[in-house]
Amino acid sequence: MVNETLLVAEEQQFELLIDALVNNEYGVCDNFFTPEEINGLRENLQAYHQGGLMYPAGVGRNFDYQKNAEIRGDVIYWINESSKNTLEALFIAKIERFIAYLNATCYTGINDFEFHYAYYEQNSFYKRHLDQFKSNRGRRYSMVLYLNENWQQEDGGSLSLYIGDDTLSVYPMGGRLVFFKSDETEHEVHAAPNRPRISIAGWLKRS
Ligand code: OGA
Ligand code: MN
Repeated sequence: MVNETLLVAEEQQFELLIDALVNNEYGVCDNFFTPEEINGLRENLQAYHQGGLMYPAGVGRNFDYQKNAEIRGDVIYWINESSKNTLEALFIAKIERFIAYLNATCYTGINDFEFHYAYYEQNSFYKRHLDQFKSNRGRRYSMVLYLNENWQQEDGGSLSLYIGDDTLSVYPMGGRLVFFKSDETEHEVHAAPNRPRISIAGWLKRS
């Protein structure tokens, strides 16, 4: 179980993310998980990727590979919210505590979530977009946790957040978490020319 001191430190992270979102429209928290936890999550992703379990998002009856690839190049694997994998369970538990904290402090009424691993092969990107679908307004907050080991700014692969007239760049350093509103903040994933770029991306939802 998570001990008292750790819970206090965790609340400080939650507070930082929420304050930043309120004041700046987005929040960034480094070391949202420990390096050991990030290593474990990365190993999970690598196993799913090597096992051929990761696919382009939205593959289905009307899926157009060509069109999709012009917009986004990542492959994903959805995390089961009752996963027995130790690290996934630990990840989900922290997200659930974050949701409880957010609802208690901001009356946000979040009652659902979904997260997937994402693997961007080198040179792949995700063009400027919003995360909320017009057909389904359930996604309220976006969260992205980076799993990259020893990422350098020269590696590229930044996330651009378009806020007002500003463009903010966030680099995908392992352990870093980004938080923003799914229906307001347009954003874009830039290609990394020399290495794959890996993360867990997800959404807090209100249905
Ligand atoms: C997404 C997304 C951002 C990132 O998956 O919708 O915008 O930095 N991800 O990976
Ligand atoms: Mn997005």
